[in-house]
Amino acid sequence: MHSFFVLTQSQPVGLTRTQSANNLVTDSGAAGTALACGFKTNNGALGVLPNGQPVGSVLEAAKLNGFKTGLVVTSTINHATPAAYSAHSADRNAYAQIAAQQVGYSHPLGQAVDVLLGGGRCYFKPEGSSASCREDNIDLFAYAEKRGYHVAQNRSDFDALDLGRGNVRLPILGLFNDGDLSYEVDRKQQAEDVREPSLSEMTEVGLNALHRATHCKEKGFFMMIEASRIDHASHANDPAAHLWDVLEYNNVMDKVLKWIDAHPDTAMISVADHETGGITLPSRHDPSRLTSATQSIEYLTELWENYDGSDRRGYLTSDILPAYGLSDASGSDIDSILSGSFASRLSALLSSRAGIAWGTGGHTAVDTTLYAYAVGDMGEQLKLDVAGSFDNTELPWYVADALKVDMDEVTALLRGNGTDWVPT
Ligand SMILES: *[C@@H]1O[C@H](CO)[C@@H](O)[C@H](O)[C@H]1NC(C)=O
Ligand SMILES: *[C@@H]1O[C@H](CO)[C@@H](O)[C@H](O)[C@H]1NC(C)=O
Ligand SMILES: [Zn+2]
Repeated sequence: MHSFFVLTQSQPVGLTRTQSANNLVTDSGAAGTALACGFKTNNGALGVLPNGQPVGSVLEAAKLNGFKTGLVVTSTINHATPAAYSAHSADRNAYAQIAAQQVGYSHPLGQAVDVLLGGGRCYFKPEGSSASCREDNIDLFAYAEKRGYHVAQNRSDFDALDLGRGNVRLPILGLFNDGDLSYEVDRKQQAEDVREPSLSEMTEVGLNALHRATHCKEKGFFMMIEASRIDHASHANDPAAHLWDVLEYNNVMDKVLKWIDAHPDTAMISVADHETGGITLPSRHDPSRLTSATQSIEYLTELWENYDGSDRRGYLTSDILPAYGLSDASGSDIDSILSGSFASRLSALLSSRAGIAWGTGGHTAVDTTLYAYAVGDMGEQLKLDVAGSFDNTELPWYVADALKVDMDEVTALLRGNGTDWVPT
């Protein structure tokens, strides 16, 4: 009976509308701002209103009220969604300044995030060091370490965290790629001693470390987890990368639900910030066709562009196409790839074999599904509360209410000394 209970409880419970202040199709900056801060803003903005004034996030409100906080993602940590919870900028692309805010270097509230796990190392290294994405000499890793952060930058550092159970104190800053973390389909192929952590491994670190710091305390934790690269795979119309990142998201969900069963004072809400790719399943959908691909189009494109041998056709048929599950490609398919349309042909060939069609390389305006899970009376109440159709801006107010924290108080603090610190 228990598994039946879990299954019904984790069914979708509602929908959210996602349009931004200035567009029916939102971007991740405006959608993140809605989900984190509870306000509509223009596409491209982050944690600020359309007029550029900052608004507090539910994470910042939780921190201010004594909760511990975490952001666990597979994109760069300063990408739109995690940034919306922890930074404020009229321009979501002000990556260097956003990173500085996230570790408290230039945030009016100081250090507000206790667990930061994801990609984006290059934004934390000063200009001139290897693989830096900064144009100043601010060393955010050194700054964070001085402020007591435990810093992790690779697999051996990650293993030393012992999945958050070890003697590691908060705060933790763990970034495991200079850019985004790899797609799950590529990550699985990495050599074990240098393999990036998966989203479910990082989730475990976050849960264990935040639990360790808060159990038996009055205030618990707030954590936002994003399977960020599902969006990227959809932008690329790469059905294989999409599949494995969705499956990894399922692994994360499984971990979180089991965590809640074992820690019944915890609740979970899950929702996509928007749909991407306009994915449809017009006929003969067969996802099993996707499993013969062992690398993403992104990875194979890099191999293909770096190939400097003389037998391009041979390399394509012996190495590239089998790695994308297309050993059966026809001569005319191969001709078309050789004539230049590498990524779009790979996408089209595998998508059609799996019965998948894409409507766009961008986002769409469809509602996104809302999931929620908690056990016991809290589970019943949660389901009653979040069943239905919501505007995306309503969710953080609901969470802030449940945690009894005040986002308006954060907004007042953010504006208290003027807002010159907000990048424009
Ligand atoms: C505002 O400025 C005062 C005086 O410099 C300082 O004590 C206070 O911490 C600042 N508050 C914020 C939220 O920046
Ligand atoms: C991992 O990163 C740390 C810095 O956080 C560095 O000292 C160490 O040499 C790196 N290990 C490997 C195997 O690259
Ligand atoms: Zn996107």
